[in-house]
Amino acid sequence: MKDFIKIQEEKIFNTIKLLGYSVDRVKLLPAQNENFGDYQFNGVMPLAKEYHKNPIDIANEIVDKLDKSDIEKATVDGPGFINITFNNESLIKYFNEFVLSEYEKNNINIIMDYGGPNVAKVLHVGHLRSANIGEALKRLAKFLGYNVIADVHLGDWGRPLGLVILELKKRHPDWVYFDENYDGDYPNDDIITNKELEELYPIASNKAKEDEEYLEEARIITTKLQNKEKGYYDLWKKIVKVSVDSIKVLYDKLNVSFDLWNGESDADIFVNDVINYLESNNYTRISEGAEIVDVSRVDDKLEIPPLLLVKSNKSVSYETTDIATIWDRVNNLNPNEIWYVVDNRQSLHFEQVFRACYKTKIVSENIKLEHLGFGTMNGIDGKPFKTRDGGVMTLDNLMKSVKDETLKKVNSSFSDQDRNKIADIVSVAALKYADLLPVRSTDYIFDIEKFCDLNGKTGVYLLYSIVRMNSLVKKAQDEGISFNKLFKLNDKYDRDIIVKLLQVDSILNKSFEDRSLSFITDYLYQLARTYNSFYDNNKILIQDDNELRESWIFITKLLSNTMTKLVNILGMEIPEKM
Ligand code: ARG
Repeated sequence: MKDFIKIQEEKIFNTIKLLGYSVDRVKLLPAQNENFGDYQFNGVMPLAKEYHKNPIDIANEIVDKLDKSDIEKATVDGPGFINITFNNESLIKYFNEFVLSEYEKNNINIIMDYGGPNVAKVLHVGHLRSANIGEALKRLAKFLGYNVIADVHLGDWGRPLGLVILELKKRHPDWVYFDENYDGDYPNDDIITNKELEELYPIASNKAKEDEEYLEEARIITTKLQNKEKGYYDLWKKIVKVSVDSIKVLYDKLNVSFDLWNGESDADIFVNDVINYLESNNYTRISEGAEIVDVSRVDDKLEIPPLLLVKSNKSVSYETTDIATIWDRVNNLNPNEIWYVVDNRQSLHFEQVFRACYKTKIVSENIKLEHLGFGTMNGIDGKPFKTRDGGVMTLDNLMKSVKDETLKKVNSSFSDQDRNKIADIVSVAALKYADLLPVRSTDYIFDIEKFCDLNGKTGVYLLYSIVRMNSLVKKAQDEGISFNKLFKLNDKYDRDIIVKLLQVDSILNKSFEDRSLSFITDYLYQLARTYNSFYDNNKILIQDDNELRESWIFITKLLSNTMTKLVNILGMEIPEKM
């Protein structure tokens, strides 16, 4: 079904062409001031300039010739704006058939790299945004017809793993994994829990900072691991499994999922190919014992340092691992685009990696590599959010505290079991909504009370509004009132909802183009507010004009269905009651 606004844009486009002017495209925008109309067309000014005419004259010509079958009123205002009010019959006809549904599939493949958790390290607040934004972008892109492959890109291969294995070796020197003469199979039992793993890493990392010898041992073990020496490699696999299992539990709670659970370790087999390719095509040079690739350009305003390919100690850098991953993806997954949803602070890293890939033709110009950076979640001091005693706030604890706050908002007459289930759903929505609300690249401040406010621009308010719509529809159902048709619109309140709903396609597309979910979160808020003022001003179920009552319930259902789809795109769910 063709979008209503698109149809109107085409009509204006055709009229302008008919009048002999040329335009590339016509864009209608929601009216800035609703007293002037539903939508406005601001495109007359550039035409007036181009054709040296008075904009008001051109605007009048357009209005005069325009097909007004869906239009109640079109006026020329100000210096030459065209304001349009649609007629109710056309809106009613359109919305009687309207369903927000997935777009037809296109042939564009996007690989999305998000999440990026590190094995054996605890997930902290810094990991929230990548998972959240990435998941929502994936759902949005799929909805719009793109083919998406989501890859978690685990950090599972570097020094941290060497450190953890070393610390285990210190504690359990008798483990068969460390016996280099051992020839048999390794035991199948669970040797370590995730909790233990998470405790080990900070201990090992601190020791390495203070003790040169310890660090050297960790280096040796990292190399043994990277050479896939039997015992170390097998132990590593166990560690990865334990860690990934627990990461999955947390991601599950956040409704975040992946098609591929690949990691840096999976890129390892391509590292030699990459280095050979770059060397044999003379893209590398040696500098201070390291092998590097120049990526600066003459027109750079800021200096972009060379990309470090192989460090002087012969180990492979984070950059090289990413290039090897791209090598794998480009050769095996046929992407048109690869998106990286990673903290702004890694933008230099991606700039270097992308430049190196294009310059060396590892990636052809028609494949788009994009770094979608995001800002940090800060505390009130403006610094990345910490626990009260200044420690790292784990994602798990953060979620628990939001859940506690949410529980206060859940109806206290429900059973504990119900309240608990509801609080799970609502707290995730509260956290996600707050996280997706700011424009992607900006920082924001974590404010738990604000995020869980029942009356603010929050996930709680949003879900509450939808639950209220659903319970109204259910009540109608229970009372045997039908709501199959939109017969008529009564006044400003019901009409406002319908007119707002006209924006849905453009909001989804704008969000996609800007790779920012903030348009959807904001739009959902506006929809909820518009509905709530309609709800507060009308007695819906006891309206005695049957056609009007049916129309109102129809609108309620239509809005709830549409909002539910948007909420799901954002990766949130809706409770039955709250
Ligand atoms: N594990 C990395 C980190 O914690 C993030 C990975 C981002 N993705 C990538 N392809 N580099 O910083």
